Amino acid sequence: MQILTTAAGLQAHTESARQAGRRIGLVPTMGALHAGHLQLVQAARAECDEVIATIFVNPTQFNNAEDFRLYPRVPDADAVLLAPAGCTALFAPSVEEMYPQPTVLRFDFGDLERVMEGAHRPGHFNGVATVVSKLFHLARPHRAYFGQKDWQQVAVVRQLVADLSFDLEIVARPTIREADGLAMSSRNRRLDAPARAAAPLLYQVLTAAAEQVQQGLSPLQVQAQAEAALAAEPLLTPEYFAVADAQTLQPLAAYVPGRAVVLCLAAHLGGVRLIDNVVVER
Ligand code: PAJ
Repeated sequence: MQILTTAAGLQAHTESARQAGRRIGLVPTMGALHAGHLQLVQAARAECDEVIATIFVNPTQFNNAEDFRLYPRVPDADAVLLAPAGCTALFAPSVEEMYPQPTVLRFDFGDLERVMEGAHRPGHFNGVATVVSKLFHLARPHRAYFGQKDWQQVAVVRQLVADLSFDLEIVARPTIREADGLAMSSRNRRLDAPARAAAPLLYQVLTAAAEQVQQGLSPLQVQAQAEAALAAEPLLTPEYFAVADAQTLQPLAAYVPGRAVVLCLAAHLGGVRLIDNVVVER
């Protein structure tokens, strides 16, 4: 596995792979890799000839300086995991390499980002769209792989690709969980023992809510019960629980026949902010 740290190096690498007719898969990450990331690499391996993983803790998508500072960084451990999963090149640039000058461009994803993560983390999707656009331009992949763990991010990136005519296919893969249901996340490393013990509640609340959606409880009832269940855990501070259309992400007053529903939540647990979601097909 080659390790690339410059934009020019990444461009040269992927350009020569393209010239050789190799299909390029891109897996953007912020590192502190776990099985959720590695399944994206494995999926890319199965479908592409060249698998580029990127590790970059992107400062422009953090609305909270402390969260950026405390974000886990374990580059050596990450590099060890990537090659066996099928990664052929790792792009791990510095902040100066990715942002040689301050960015001024602003993305606005309309209603898509007026809810959930977009509403609660001002500027977050602007930073995501900026860095993802840069990576798409530098690597020019045929396919780029994202996790449904960040359901809204996938929707925003699909919108970005459509609006800017990026010539690539977005592949979204399911959320990988710990045995007790907790969605894998780099931030889980920051949970202390009591917070880790309480963390499976998030997925329990989501699965209970999904059953209620299937039973036909109204979105309002589902939301109220989920919020009550989250509030009952003293270690946990809920930020939002949303019952939304899985495609538009807009909150639902009533279900629409034939349209999937996504249940999304964010909560703070022992100083760590976690998100999760489940989709209910209807
Ligand atoms: P990061 O949180 O490192 O996640 C990288 C990719 O892994 C994202 O597509 C995310 O949805 C996926 N992922 C994370 N945990 C997962 C899990 N438990 N199951 C399945 N997939 C999972 O998301 C980002 O980084 C950044 O915003 C990025 C896209 C790299 C832009 O900076």
